[in-house]
Amino acid sequence: MKDLAGKTAFITGGASGIGYGMAQAFAAQGMNIMLADIEQGALDKAVAALSDETNVRVAGVLCDVSMRDAVFEAAQKAFDEFGKVHIVCSNAGIGAGGPIEKIPQSDWDWVVGVNQMAIVYAIQAFLPHIKAHGEGGHFVTTASMAGIIAAGATGGPYTATKFAAVGISDVLRGELEKTNISASVLCPGFVNTNITNAGRNRPDRFGGPIAPVAPKSDSDAVRQEMMLQGIKGGLDPRIVGELVREGVEGDWPYIFTDPNMRAIVEMRYKAILDGFDKLVASKALAGK
Ligand SMILES: NC(=O)c1ccc[n+]([C@@H]2O[C@H](COP(=O)([O-])OP(=O)(O)OC[C@H]3O[C@@H](n4cnc5c(N)ncnc54)[C@H](O)[C@@H]3O)[C@@H](O)[C@H]2O)c1
Repeated sequence: MKDLAGKTAFITGGASGIGYGMAQAFAAQGMNIMLADIEQGALDKAVAALSDETNVRVAGVLCDVSMRDAVFEAAQKAFDEFGKVHIVCSNAGIGAGGPIEKIPQSDWDWVVGVNQMAIVYAIQAFLPHIKAHGEGGHFVTTASMAGIIAAGATGGPYTATKFAAVGISDVLRGELEKTNISASVLCPGFVNTNITNAGRNRPDRFGGPIAPVAPKSDSDAVRQEMMLQGIKGGLDPRIVGELVREGVEGDWPYIFTDPNMRAIVEMRYKAILDGFDKLVASKALAGK
């Protein structure tokens, strides 16, 4: 989608980190911005800061994206405020750790609600509207490199939902192929945001806010420290926002942020292709 000036972007998880970086990048192109977030204080600050920094119209809406009705209400607020919405960024995301067998059901429900179902709710809430106004549009789904390569031990729900995010965006892009609406999936590497304290926003119905969990073993402690250091030393979210803007304008299916991750992706796809080599050599298929 080109000619962004004067159009409107709706961004979930827009009060912090990557979502706010996208808002800055789109606002710099003259787009109006609606930020949707679950954290009222951070949302108010983000709306005020972006309004000070730019000349575009900026508004905020409190919204728990894991609730379908809340997403539809937030969409309606955006239509009331701006008339038309063109770019929808399903970006809000959280992680809950622990081995798959031990993660409580409520945490699975929380991560699936925010990282996966919210993407579907946003498509359902905005796609009919974008089709109806006819000016074109773009859906940006924030997945992760953990949506391409498994995040490793203790990343079960995060990896599962980020793979789902990539799948939903790929399917949506196919469904919209012959239209003036498209879809991209953002797969960031490490970005310097507040993601390691995602538990601050766990809604009461999933057990309420939690502080980062203390490591239970030395290997847990090492893993946690590597993650913290990775995020701290990660990319500036504003640069990620600029990459997303470029990806939307160029209609990239996949928006990556870390060129060094290419080698790991190649390793994963080699492992997948090796599965086919094993198949060809298998006794069970011999002569078939
Ligand atoms: N930071 C990284 O290194 C990294 C890497 C890969 C992917 N990501 C993904 O980027 C996205 C943005 O995360 P971030 O790193 O900017 O973290 P962040 O914590 O700085 O921002 C996330 C935002 O989402 C909001 N949010 C959380 N739950 C919500 C809910 N139920 N409803 C509405 N808003 C909610 C938070 O209030 C916050 O403003 C997430 O999807 C995350 O998984 C981040």
